[in-house]
Amino acid sequence: MNPVTRMLVTAGPTRERIDPIRFISNLSTGFMGYEIARAAKSRGYKVTLISGPTNLVPPRGVNFISVESARQMSLAVKAGLKNSDCLFMASAVCDWRPAKNRATKLKRTNKALSLKLVKNPDILYGAGRKKKRKILVGFALESANLEKSAKKKLRKKNLDIIAANKIDKKKSAFGKGLTDVLIITKTGNCKRLKRVTKNTIANYLIDKVEELWQG
Ligand code: CTP
Repeated sequence: MNPVTRMLVTAGPTRERIDPIRFISNLSTGFMGYEIARAAKSRGYKVTLISGPTNLVPPRGVNFISVESARQMSLAVKAGLKNSDCLFMASAVCDWRPAKNRATKLKRTNKALSLKLVKNPDILYGAGRKKKRKILVGFALESANLEKSAKKKLRKKNLDIIAANKIDKKKSAFGKGLTDVLIITKTGNCKRLKRVTKNTIANYLIDKVEELWQG
């Protein structure tokens, strides 16, 4: 029996409100995280999926928690980690949020507008500091120096595995399309998967988690 039985997965973007109707966010679709949740569920794990706003339907049988902002996601991950053996942090967390979330709609004026942004928590870094025997899987999006930057993130955030994508203007790493990914484990194992589906990536990552746990 595999001792890793409870998987916590995050997916999608976060939204950081400017006022009641405006926000800043990113292009994440949530597809990677939903595919991990689906694959883990079909392999017999108990799965909790914490998701930012997406257009996707949660896989059947997963415990689904919907959040909007990075701070809400952070609280949900902290609570979820208590009952989990493994975290897949596939969400695209906004690194900043507007300093003010206005209660009323910001009116248009003739002047330019500057938004002050403040730092959001680094959820995965926080999880890495308290990980104990839990397995942490992170994701990285990089414009340059893919392997070096991903290895640095793996160490800094105290991860077991990182899946890294290069930002490419022509081929988006987001959504349902085929993608290239570099998967690095803390044991130094590096594997490049070329033009693969998110389902393939999800199952490969779960295989690696199982190997690490057994090793
Ligand atoms: N992450 C997180 N909290 C944040 C930002 C990122 O938990 N505030 C997680 C992501 O979910 C991902 C990993 O950290 O699993 C790496 O995210 P990425 O955006 O590639 O890196 P950053 O740490 O934000 O660093 P940078 O933007 O400078 O590359």
